[in-house]
Amino acid sequence: MTARDPSARNPSQVWQELSADYEQARAREDSLDRLVEWPAQRDLLGDVTGRSILDLGCGNGGKLAELVRDGAVASAGVDIAGNFIAAPPAGVELMRGDLSDPESVPELSGRTFDRILFLQSFGYAKDPVHTLRAARAKLNPDGFILLTRTQPIRYAVERAEKNGTTLGEEYFSRADYTYRTSWNDHLALTKRTYTMSDLLNAFSAAGLWIETAVEPQLTEEDARRHPHKQAWLNKYLGILIFKLRPLSSRFASFQ
Ligand SMILES: C[S@@+](CC[C@H](N)C(=O)[O-])C[C@H]1O[C@@H](n2cnc3c(N)ncnc32)[C@H](O)[C@@H]1O
Repeated sequence: MTARDPSARNPSQVWQELSADYEQARAREDSLDRLVEWPAQRDLLGDVTGRSILDLGCGNGGKLAELVRDGAVASAGVDIAGNFIAAPPAGVELMRGDLSDPESVPELSGRTFDRILFLQSFGYAKDPVHTLRAARAKLNPDGFILLTRTQPIRYAVERAEKNGTTLGEEYFSRADYTYRTSWNDHLALTKRTYTMSDLLNAFSAAGLWIETAVEPQLTEEDARRHPHKQAWLNKYLGILIFKLRPLSSRFASFQ
């Protein structure tokens, strides 16, 4: 049974206040997004020339704009906060909306894409399997989903320290977790806890298979230059990245 904190706010609403602080932190030279996450995400996307991309939970849309400058076409970004870059390049449409049900965002109705991204945004889906199935239905043939999520161990380590409990107790706890964000310590986010098997089972239930999984780390040079970031990763591990493809029509019963 999941324990609910009645005072906890819907995390997607919190993002309307948090997004400017997040983007400011992400833009720092030593942010883990700049040093580790975006380079690894970009690497897995490969050559995007002529590819259409849908970025769900796109933040300010800066990553999508970069992909279009690298050759992507007819691309769209959706974010609940609506705090977008001022002048997106031609070929990028940024729209306010809920990623939980992409087909219900009017501008996306009937459209399909070559790449669909959930970069640190999948945790905000109301029903994760429903959202993944809906995203899968919007993929063109030979398309894939790139999905990143914080290592669940990270939250378990934090909660064990805070509550004086053990890693295992917290990792397997089903209670929601409310924590002050490092981007703005006046704001708290409440997350459903999850384990690795929760994630893998969600992919399976949505009819997706994992082509590649990556646990990106700092390069040796960046670790030397930013030892505080290496210390953080040594404790909290970082993020997981999954490249997900639809199971073949042989497994059409998943649809
Ligand atoms: C950690 S940020 C990641 C932003 C961006 N994808 C990146 O990699 O930098 C999470 C993003 O998810 C967005 N978000 C949260 N709930 C959402 C929802 N229900 N629908 C759409 N976007 C949402 C937030 O506004 C925020 O921009």
